Amino acid sequence: MQDAYGRQIDYLRVSVTDRCDLRCTYCMTDDASFVPRADVLTLEEVLRLGAVFIGLGVKKLRITGGEPLVRRNILWLFERLGRHLGHGLDELTLTTNGTRLDEVAEGLVASGVQRVNVSLDTLSPATFKSITRHGDLSKVLAGIDAADRAGLKIKLNCVLMKGINDGEIPDLMAWCHARGFDLVLIETMPMGDARSELYLPLEAILEALAKRFSLEEVADRTNGPARYLHVQETGGRLGLIAPLSHNFCADCNRVRLTASGRLHLCLGREDGIDLRAHLRAGDSDSAIIAAILKALSVKPQGHDFVAGGTCSQGQGAVRSMSATGG
Ligand code: 5AD
Ligand code: SF4
Repeated sequence: MQDAYGRQIDYLRVSVTDRCDLRCTYCMTDDASFVPRADVLTLEEVLRLGAVFIGLGVKKLRITGGEPLVRRNILWLFERLGRHLGHGLDELTLTTNGTRLDEVAEGLVASGVQRVNVSLDTLSPATFKSITRHGDLSKVLAGIDAADRAGLKIKLNCVLMKGINDGEIPDLMAWCHARGFDLVLIETMPMGDARSELYLPLEAILEALAKRFSLEEVADRTNGPARYLHVQETGGRLGLIAPLSHNFCADCNRVRLTASGRLHLCLGREDGIDLRAHLRAGDSDSAIIAAILKALSVKPQGHDFVAGGTCSQGQGAVRSMSATGG
């Protein structure tokens, strides 16, 4: 699969639910509404589309949400998708908030998952409670421990929030690196109900980090939008995702499937196609493939988020991360 700008698309992110057991303020409102269950793809439908995409050249699949681990029987999907590993698929992974990771860590490993991204914005139980509106940090930490014990490689995603967690980033990084985890810092993106007053440019944090640590730019890329720094004192890696201050669209290699079966070509834009309609109309794989290839030809060149505000056309992305799949 290639788009009109010559970018090779080999990475599919699949949201298996837009629901979540947390309510992070940068992602959802307190009374967020969700897609009706009948409109959410069944796990069988997700599996079928996954196989079609692998046939089309997808080498890396990431299961996301919402929170993917709140989806009932999710291990069934991992187990089935895992059978494609080594047969077209190179990597099967997931992004999770960690609250239920302890229940599934071993099952994930048995399915062939080797790495997991866990969202963790703070190590303070009180700050965690206020960011997530009611979450219990100890469950996430238990999930991380279980994943570690099960042998999963762990990367922590931390969304930078001005005045909320910016003061504890050096400590968070030291904690991650001491345990052998990568830490990735993410600028708040103007999406859905995200609050743009939380936006903090990465550069500000890097200055603070540079006072305590020696940071060297390294060439590692992991198939995603992060650039990496090597931290001399800890021996660990620090990833940076700065969609606003460093646009990463030029080498974008991914597309996203929402929980309701829409294929989105870009995180920050509305264009997409309804693959659920094809599935439920009883279309053949080749009709579905034709629809996917046609959609790819119009993958936009890039997002149009702009720093400090929303996006250049007004409101930022209409969909939140939980709707599109992080
Ligand atoms: N800006 C930046 N990151 C976000 N995430 C969710 N919403 C936003 C946003 N508006 C993050 C989550 C998770 C990842 C999938 O995306 O914290 O780590
Ligand atoms: Fe790719 Fe769109 Fe993300 Fe840019 S904003 S990196 S084009 S998905």
